[in-house]
Amino acid sequence: MSKREGPVIFSEIKPLTGLRKALEMSGEAVLEVIKSSNLKGRGGAGFPTGLKWGFAASDSDEHKYVVCNADEGEPGTFKDRVLLSEYPLLMLEGMVIAGYVIGADRGYVYLRGEYKGLKKELERVISEMRENKALGEDILGKKGFNFDIEIKMGAGAYICGEETALIESMEGQRGEPRNRPPFPVNTGFLGFPTVVNNVETMSVVPHILVKGADWFKAIGTEKSAGTKILSVSGDCVKPGVYEVPFGMTVEEVLKMVGAEDTKAVQVGGASGVCVGKDEFGREISFEDLPTGGSFIILNSGRNLLDMVKNFLEFFNEESCGQCTPCREGVPVLIEGLELIKKEECNERYLKDLFSLCETLQCSSKCGLGQSAPNAFVSVLDKFKDEYKLSTKIKKETVFNGQ
Ligand SMILES: Cc1cc2nc3c(=O)[nH]c(=O)nc-3n(C[C@H](O)[C@H](O)[C@H](O)COP(=O)(O)O)c2cc1C
Repeated sequence: MSKREGPVIFSEIKPLTGLRKALEMSGEAVLEVIKSSNLKGRGGAGFPTGLKWGFAASDSDEHKYVVCNADEGEPGTFKDRVLLSEYPLLMLEGMVIAGYVIGADRGYVYLRGEYKGLKKELERVISEMRENKALGEDILGKKGFNFDIEIKMGAGAYICGEETALIESMEGQRGEPRNRPPFPVNTGFLGFPTVVNNVETMSVVPHILVKGADWFKAIGTEKSAGTKILSVSGDCVKPGVYEVPFGMTVEEVLKMVGAEDTKAVQVGGASGVCVGKDEFGREISFEDLPTGGSFIILNSGRNLLDMVKNFLEFFNEESCGQCTPCREGVPVLIEGLELIKKEECNERYLKDLFSLCETLQCSSKCGLGQSAPNAFVSVLDKFKDEYKLSTKIKKETVFNGQ
């Protein structure tokens, strides 16, 4: 066990005590604890976990599934890798508790293709759980509660972190997002009710069972209960994985990790937003600065346009190509950014590019296209000193002009 320290996940807890506690209660009572804890999903969207589980629990289908989303593909995010490698039992225990609440018979860990090195150890922990009767039939003596867990490997596509594309991939199809509704909680894996939760969300659950919903709610802010695990990278002395209470300001995080001369922080990875000095008082929380976990620090030597270009190229590479705004819009933004870097973009064209960003945000089919322009918008809107616009009207700067 690692020596990491933190108020929730990185605090001490005896193996399987959360599950034991859950099994002393009815599934409905456990659901009430999770609902009352105000736990929200840590994968990015922040959907209330109790509500999600409640939808699946109220379905009476023959099969139900629990899926742990361990696809972790957001640039700058590596906290799930730490949880998977240092605290695997916690996440698996959370999955069994979810299975108990919704009445599932099977769980899957959808593991990022690039994390295949973690598979063997995860399988060993799963086998040990079977030996300890924490998986299998009549779990820990609870008659009739049968649940097992299997690992499904991803193949390296960022889009497969999106829960419906993930389910498609699990079914052996090409990883493309589905139309919603129906939602996975009603029609998920193989058409059955499926709860998909992030690794961190699952890992919090045993702690809530052991220490109580009120204890959990007392940490963080009113609307964001508990803690967030941050993957801190970039220009600082102590990059790494930290557990911080929601409500911690950007400034406080920078101080904690020894960052000096910080120009900007990209919060939430490539799909997140860039904040400058005047926003360092903002809080990490669902209501202010939400993040799936990525916190990238950029000092005054960095060119923010290079970062934006890097992110746009990533989205261009990872777009599934299904919907037009995302497939066709991102390359236009890349071209636009090139013009901006060469100081050949005029004000009118920049306006067109912003309007294209809005189209992507509002009409892309899934979160990938919807968030692809975020870094572009926040950097070009807030960091005007980073670039100079051209005053010339050029033929190639006319939107869609040939
Ligand atoms: C393009 C894209 C990639 C995503 N990647 C991940 C991921 O790697 N891990 C994750 O937990 N959620 C990811 N999500 C969010 C999931 O769709 C889903 O909301 C999440 O797994 C739900 O878990 P939670 O409620 O515990 O947050 C992604 C979403 C999008 C649009």
